[in-house]
Amino acid sequence: MPADPLDAAKRLAAEKAAEIVRPGMRLGLGTGSTAKHFVDCVGEKVKGGMPLICVPTSEATRAQAAALNIPLTSLDETPELDATVDGTDEFDPQLRLIKGGGGALLREKIVASASKRLIVITDRTKQNTRLGRFPLPIEVVPFGLEATRRKIESAAARVGCHGALTLRRVKAGPVFVTDNGNYILDAAFGVIPDPEGLALALAVLPGVVEHGLFLGLASAIVIADADGVEIKGDLR
Ligand code: 5RP
Repeated sequence: MPADPLDAAKRLAAEKAAEIVRPGMRLGLGTGSTAKHFVDCVGEKVKGGMPLICVPTSEATRAQAAALNIPLTSLDETPELDATVDGTDEFDPQLRLIKGGGGALLREKIVASASKRLIVITDRTKQNTRLGRFPLPIEVVPFGLEATRRKIESAAARVGCHGALTLRRVKAGPVFVTDNGNYILDAAFGVIPDPEGLALALAVLPGVVEHGLFLGLASAIVIADADGVEIKGDLR
């Protein structure tokens, strides 16, 4: 178990989620420091001889999984998955999520949507009663960036969301580019009064590829802290 308590909680959540993995499963592999632990758990199962086939949600996860000899496929070859296990940046009591802190939200949402179940693994710090503490990542195409930014501002304002939209950079250096060749605007809205309304408002904007609101996708959230593991939703 990792010495750092936060990392230990992430590992614990990952190990709990790994209990649902059965031979022959088609699995989506999430992205981020929590999902990384789950990929390690899957690697151990593969090493032990369990047949599995997996779809990674990012190039980073693909590299990790390949190094662990986890058999990989694509959604073109395997368009339906049994489950995806992924981390989150924030979650609320209705199992709604903000994701995309690692910049993989588009592939994460496509893979989660192709899965019968999305199981979220997290430490307790990501819990919130209302979404919005974590700036909402919005993936946009580079073309027309300023025009798209303004459209986002006015669409968000119509559903009660106001706040700075910051172009994501790599450590205050070059612009962060997603695995899909796009940019990310991080929207510091604070509390989002109507996540469903905001999701719809963003989805129709040209130039917006995807946003980090994951609504109605998570079937279970595995939350770990120093006291152990709590499960919200249905892990089976
Ligand atoms: C990546 C994500 C991650 O799941 C999210 O950022 C959580 O990451 P971590 O487990 O490192 O806190 O959405 O796009």
